[in-house]
Amino acid sequence: MEKINPVLVPQRKLFDGSFMPAIGMGTFGSDRFTAEQVSNAVAGAIEVGYRMFDCAAVYGNEDLIGKVFQQAFDKGTVKREELFITTKVWNNMHGQGDVLLSCAKSLRDLRLNYIDLFFIHWPFANYHAPGCDGDARNPDSTPFSVDAFMATWRQCERLVDMGLVKYIGMSSMTIPKLKAVLPLCRIKPAAIEMELHPSFQQQALFDYILAHDIQPIGFCPIGSPTRPDRDKTPDDVVDIQMPEVVEIAKAHGVHPAVICIKWAAQRGQTPIPFSVYENEYVSNLKCVTEDPLTQAEMESIRLADKNCRLIKGQVFLWPGANDWHDLWDEDGTITK
Ligand SMILES: NC(=O)c1ccc[n+]([C@@H]2O[C@H](COP(=O)([O-])OP(=O)(O)OC[C@H]3O[C@@H](n4cnc5c(N)ncnc54)[C@H](OP(=O)(O)O)[C@@H]3O)[C@@H](O)[C@H]2O)c1
Repeated sequence: MEKINPVLVPQRKLFDGSFMPAIGMGTFGSDRFTAEQVSNAVAGAIEVGYRMFDCAAVYGNEDLIGKVFQQAFDKGTVKREELFITTKVWNNMHGQGDVLLSCAKSLRDLRLNYIDLFFIHWPFANYHAPGCDGDARNPDSTPFSVDAFMATWRQCERLVDMGLVKYIGMSSMTIPKLKAVLPLCRIKPAAIEMELHPSFQQQALFDYILAHDIQPIGFCPIGSPTRPDRDKTPDDVVDIQMPEVVEIAKAHGVHPAVICIKWAAQRGQTPIPFSVYENEYVSNLKCVTEDPLTQAEMESIRLADKNCRLIKGQVFLWPGANDWHDLWDEDGTITK
């Protein structure tokens, strides 16, 4: 097994001067890969040199990943403080008390006594069953509410106060939502997860987040070719087939997926690519330590943006909403 020295992996500076790795491994099996496959990949990834793992309660595999962490600590492969582990509260656990319960369950499942970074997974408390169809709707769903979101954020702040969590973060936010909630935060988010890949660069939101000294973490960095079928539409761009990406991949002698990761890390977000295959997750980590893209290649990918959102979130829509665009405040105001 090829190993990459974690010291060579670039780091991101958080608002308090601490650091986190500039690349992590995703752990969402996308309803295609079993919890065993994902946790085996985490075990392999720790050996290879990954030090950041993006987990979530709703991924349904934290108990098996926790066993892997425990084994790695017991074997002395890695120390707890060398890992940067994130998890997220799911939409059915927002509100006054359930955030603490969700964190407690993740801590127990992951076999940890603190989480490095704890996210509100989606800004809506709108629940849908795991694995449901893309047309599924919950009649109890409601539009974004600043008050409801802040009630959940206050619980996240309590987790920091209690020492259970080092940093807190948000995910799938928009500029209008951030404008509304950031001034209200007692403890600011250290990072925000957002969809980022060559065909969906979200430049305005990316710039806004960095300007607030928050780290953007990019999910679906390869364009999520194995995402659940409910998240696929015929118009979706396939990042690893984009001519610009394919051409640069040929020049570097690597798979186009690797170019997506290089571009992400060099641009300044922290990509969290997923793979259960050793050759793929080795390439994804190794590529940020060598053979950078040229300025011209970075520019070619910048110009190739297609504003193509893949994770549209339509299952979170509320009664009366038009379509998935309503989730993303595209006219500059929070959609009600
Ligand atoms: N905060 C949120 O709401 C949110 C939403 C979505 C995802 N996420 C996080 O982001 C992570 C990554 O997103 P994702 O899993 O959707 O998509 P992704 O990382 O963009 O794509 C993963 C797929 O890309 C392929 N791949 C990976 N490395 C490769 C390589 N070196 N060469 C060729 N193909 C490669 C694999 O497919 P093949 O099997 O075809 O090789 C793999 O299944 C998730 O696991 C999760 O942790 C968070």
